[in-house]
Amino acid sequence: MQWVKIFSSEAEARERLKDRVLQLLVVHGKRICLAQHQHTFFAVQDACSHNSESLSKGAVNFMGEVVCPWHNYRFDLRTGRECSSRSADLKTYPVKADDSGFYIGIY
Ligand code: FES
Repeated sequence: MQWVKIFSSEAEARERLKDRVLQLLVVHGKRICLAQHQHTFFAVQDACSHNSESLSKGAVNFMGEVVCPWHNYRFDLRTGRECSSRSADLKTYPVKADDSGFYIGIY
């Protein structure tokens, strides 16, 4: 796994990505949906496992699930699991912050 710096600090990440707002990232050719929910950051594959819609065009609900804008399938941001077991789980990516910046783990 390779850690890729995406913000200069955790403070910048919080300023640029508000709670329950989704952001598309393209890192090393991978399309990733970045989210913040209840002060925690999550990253999952951007392509919905049902029919490949961009999840970053969707929404985050109060339970910390990303809701696909096309057919409203819901995925747990922590695990990537589709909440009704109708389609495959999403790939998840770790994030971390330290004194040198805010990073996403790409593999
Ligand atoms: S494409 Fe996402 S729920 Fe159908």
